[in-house]
Amino acid sequence: MAKRPLVMRTVSSLRRTLAPWRKRGQSIALVPTMGALHAGHLKLVSDAKRRADRVVVSIFVNPAQFAPHEDFGSYPRTFDADIKALGEAKVDLVWAPTATAMYPGGFATRIAPQGAALAGLEDKFRPHFFGGVATVVAKLFLQVQPDFAMFGQKDYQQFCVVTQMAKDLDLPVKVIGIPTVREKDGLALSSRNAYLSEAERRAAPELARVLKVSASRIKAGEPIEMVLEEGAVEIARAGFSLDYLEARHAVTLAPVASPKDGPIRLLVAARIGKTRLIDNMPV
Ligand code: PAJ
Repeated sequence: MAKRPLVMRTVSSLRRTLAPWRKRGQSIALVPTMGALHAGHLKLVSDAKRRADRVVVSIFVNPAQFAPHEDFGSYPRTFDADIKALGEAKVDLVWAPTATAMYPGGFATRIAPQGAALAGLEDKFRPHFFGGVATVVAKLFLQVQPDFAMFGQKDYQQFCVVTQMAKDLDLPVKVIGIPTVREKDGLALSSRNAYLSEAERRAAPELARVLKVSASRIKAGEPIEMVLEEGAVEIARAGFSLDYLEARHAVTLAPVASPKDGPIRLLVAARIGKTRLIDNMPV
């Protein structure tokens, strides 16, 4: 049977466990998650294992990144299954702070990321989101002090924001971006896919299909604006209500008019039924 990983719930027990590892000179990789683990998260874990001597996975559904009308209360929580999967993946430690360990009474500090965090993509629809993410990720980095931190490119804007934050605050951690893990039909794995009805699940791969076709058309020299307009029509036809489909600079997330403006990333967010899905691909 796979060994159960250590599970720590307070900052002091976490620090006590990490100290001897660091003293022995062992490198540490951190994989921040909100639990409800799937094969996308586990890819981050297996890449972390290849990079570092010790792997810490954090599980914390972070209230600070949900708006009051969002799904904090109903966000899937599958702690026992998560611990079992992390045992099988041979993770050393699970950092699962209680809400009061993370945000004790009187907590009064918030990181306000700018740049990629104000690109007019996710931030436009979830204005509270990147402040909440940056604050909790900065705390996780300071609590665990990892050498490496693994983030999925599935949440591409988040990856850009965290990379910039680590750089701006001189945090001694290397942020690693891991390509998106997908279902066979192209749908990006997400904890929120569990919300989809059967019919919505059948429509959902349309986002990835449109991104893929649009990327190859732009690469072939077709005008970006026209390609994205046609893509938006196809996404709507599949039953989605589109929040955005955009071409941006892959590092700064600034708008781009042509491939001459630098490496391009296509990003999409759309709602189907009650579920909001995001995806992105490089050109
Ligand atoms: P969560 O949605 O649980 O995702 C944890 C990590 O898994 C993120 O870096 C995310 O990009 C990555 N991930 C999710 N689906 C993936 C997929 N299909 N392929 C590859 N990686 C994937 O993102 C968060 O949690 C939170 O915002 C967090 C960073 C933990 C801060 O609270």
